[in-house]
Amino acid sequence: MSIAPGLIAAQSKMAAAGVDQTAIDVFSHYFAELEAGATGLIREDTIEPLTSPPGLDGLEVDPEAAREALARTAIIKLNGGLGTSMGMDRAKSLLPVRDGATFLDVIVDQVRKAREATGARLPLVLMNSFRTQDDSLAALAAHADLAVDGLPLDFLQNAEPKLLVDGLMPVEWPKDPTLEWCPPGHGDIYTAILASGVLKALLDQGFRYASVSNSDNLGAVPSAAIAGWFAASGAPYAAELCRRTAADRKGGHLAIRKSDGRLILRDTAQTAPEEMHFFTDEHHHPFFHTNNLWFDLERLHSALVERGAVLGLPLIRNVKTVDPTDPSSPEVFQIETAMGAAIEVFEGATAIVVGRDRFLPVKTTNDLLLLRSDAYTLEDDGALRVAVTPAPLVDLDPRFYKTMSGFDARFPHGAPSLRDAVSLTVRGDWTFGAGVVCRGAVTLEDTGKPETIPDGTVLEG
Ligand code: UTP
Repeated sequence: MSIAPGLIAAQSKMAAAGVDQTAIDVFSHYFAELEAGATGLIREDTIEPLTSPPGLDGLEVDPEAAREALARTAIIKLNGGLGTSMGMDRAKSLLPVRDGATFLDVIVDQVRKAREATGARLPLVLMNSFRTQDDSLAALAAHADLAVDGLPLDFLQNAEPKLLVDGLMPVEWPKDPTLEWCPPGHGDIYTAILASGVLKALLDQGFRYASVSNSDNLGAVPSAAIAGWFAASGAPYAAELCRRTAADRKGGHLAIRKSDGRLILRDTAQTAPEEMHFFTDEHHHPFFHTNNLWFDLERLHSALVERGAVLGLPLIRNVKTVDPTDPSSPEVFQIETAMGAAIEVFEGATAIVVGRDRFLPVKTTNDLLLLRSDAYTLEDDGALRVAVTPAPLVDLDPRFYKTMSGFDARFPHGAPSLRDAVSLTVRGDWTFGAGVVCRGAVTLEDTGKPETIPDGTVLEG
């Protein structure tokens, strides 16, 4: 079989840019799948719902065993994404989230507090991409006590060429050549942690487990209980799940593959449109996947070495424009994989249901406004927890608030008080003064022109 010209061009572009050979091999594997027209669809009749995974609540974990497991746990945060859904082109974790402290500051604080409370070494390691590394490491430099045992504070994920939808050649964009490259999704953690030597360094320092989560999820604090459960389970890999509510229509779910009984992850992109009603039915698939994962580092290492880092995860084919801010620029494919899809690779992989407090993602400015408000409090362990249940629903007009610049301009004094609000719905262009308080179900209607809410206003629903 002849090799596609696009693949040859992409491989030499990667080699010329100094990309690691392992990463080139992994990219080549997925390129072949893309070329063969892989869709990654998982049909409902090939899976059984996962209905009764164990739950952390009510689980007896021996405190001594939990302490020992945490002492051998490293905390890894996925920090390579750019928050493009919030109009960002840098690490989302550098946004201020609480009293001027950024997500990264809060994460450092959580790790520090867990170290103090448990005596565990708890190294914090970020997975950065070429777009997030410099800024994030510069921000961590302010926390001089963070590094432990000579371990690095981060490892760098790989970069791969964006491919023209028309012909699969690597795109050329002389105006800004950095836009010719993209990070290959968080599934790249497996390639990157191996090729960077960080996996080996953690093992050499006596670490056996990793607790991995998104840097935009401030709910995923270091947990001795889960570490203890995971160590005792003897599983190579575990995913944290949350029970779905009617509002949780997005987000992947685990299921049992009928052909071999293994757990698999199914995301929206892997569900056929005519089967979406199964996917969104919270009674049929009752738990969603939080992207908080646990790895046994020894077993991860042997699996990766055995397979030359090619785990063969389901491919995610993203279509974007080469310049995300310019819809008229050429359309490209970005080949990605999802970290949580690796569950199917590990025999004996398992899952645990955790409290909703471990899932606090910031995907939109609606989420950010809530976290910045008094509807959440910063607790003693450094975690942000909801102060009122259920948390108010925030729905800001995407025309004015979707990007960080639009959002910041309209909340120059920070978030209004939302503690007594059921919801805040904003239609139109409203700028909030200082000390605004929302009570009940507040709706601001579009008046067709920019409006200002004076300082100290109480908005009653
Ligand atoms: P998401 O895909 O939700 O990231 O990844 P995001 O940055 O919020 O996405 P967009 O750009 O707005 O669509 C979840 C986590 O995985 C990290 C992100 O930083 C986030 O913490 N991530 C994502 C990586 O580390 N590398 C990647 O290539 C992609």
